[in-house]
Amino acid sequence: MTIPETVRFEGGIDGRLFMIDQTLLPQEFTEILCPTVEVVWEAIKKLRVRGAPAIGIAAGFGVVIGVQPALDKSRAEFDARLAEVIDYLATSRPTAVNLFWALDRLKKVGLNAGAEESPRDVAEKLLAEALQIQSDDRAICRAIGKYGSALIQDGWGVHTHCNAGGLATADFGTALGVCFACAEEGKKIHVYADETRPLLQGARLTTWELMQRGIPVTLICDNMAAQVMREGRVQAAVVGADRIAANGDAANKIGTYQLAIVAKEHGVPFYVAAPKSTFDLSIATGVEIPIEQRDPKEVTCGFGKQTAPDGVDVYNPAFDVTPAKYITGIITEFGVISPVTEENVRKALGE
Ligand code: MRU
Repeated sequence: MTIPETVRFEGGIDGRLFMIDQTLLPQEFTEILCPTVEVVWEAIKKLRVRGAPAIGIAAGFGVVIGVQPALDKSRAEFDARLAEVIDYLATSRPTAVNLFWALDRLKKVGLNAGAEESPRDVAEKLLAEALQIQSDDRAICRAIGKYGSALIQDGWGVHTHCNAGGLATADFGTALGVCFACAEEGKKIHVYADETRPLLQGARLTTWELMQRGIPVTLICDNMAAQVMREGRVQAAVVGADRIAANGDAANKIGTYQLAIVAKEHGVPFYVAAPKSTFDLSIATGVEIPIEQRDPKEVTCGFGKQTAPDGVDVYNPAFDVTPAKYITGIITEFGVISPVTEENVRKALGE
């Protein structure tokens, strides 16, 4: 079964960028065209494309789209446009470090270009870099899936939160990649997916992806996690991450931290699955990770139906940080980091 690409670039430097509009799933499967960098920015901001690696991939191609109007201008004008586009895309969302990591890669391509190269030459290199980020992510997710599946036994229940699947990456996923790899190896697992208030990435996207692949999944409300664990329905929890500090503290979708605490109380191993590009070694601990605050209406008026009184005070952080002490292991493309300590993180990442 073929699952379409989350983000798709068609053609050369004058080409076109498409994304699955994830806000419409699961009712509607629609690809949107992103003809300008403003449309790419809006798609990231509004979560049409979301999930740390997919945001990085979208931003890489967003840079290529952003410089298209300057392809036939002078090199100085092209360079100015490139810098402007990169700075602009960096304002779309603050938490997933993959966004800044991808933009940095594209920035370096621009900075390393020779003065004699034309804007079109530089744009070719920018597109090659964006495509490389996407194709690397495919391989990285497969490797994460392989290392992660070794931790999961046949017959286990697996708890997950938010969506860290193909939709959140180039095409296979991190936490869900572990589940997909288990299924490919013939292990029978049963996934419990938190619905993930307030934007329901678990209910709308994770269940959809698992059902597409024929993997048994049960949807639960976020506040059912403790009961599900007490009943012994899950033997492991696997989630993704948006930014991991040098000591292993991991930011992920709001609600992940409480799931980790509940898992510890019930003796359920709690794994974070993430690529190297999600680590931010410039940050010592999770306290320094910027947490995105989102529109209160996502809480009071989710999906068009008002569920709270007008004028109610709302707090809506999109992410939380799980301290390393709650994380049994971090599953990366290089293997599993466990126990999660700064020394082991740095060693695994070759720093
Ligand atoms: O706000 P979102 O939907 O972008 O949040 C996504 C998550 O928290 C994911 O778990 C994380 O980005 C990892 S995706 C492989």
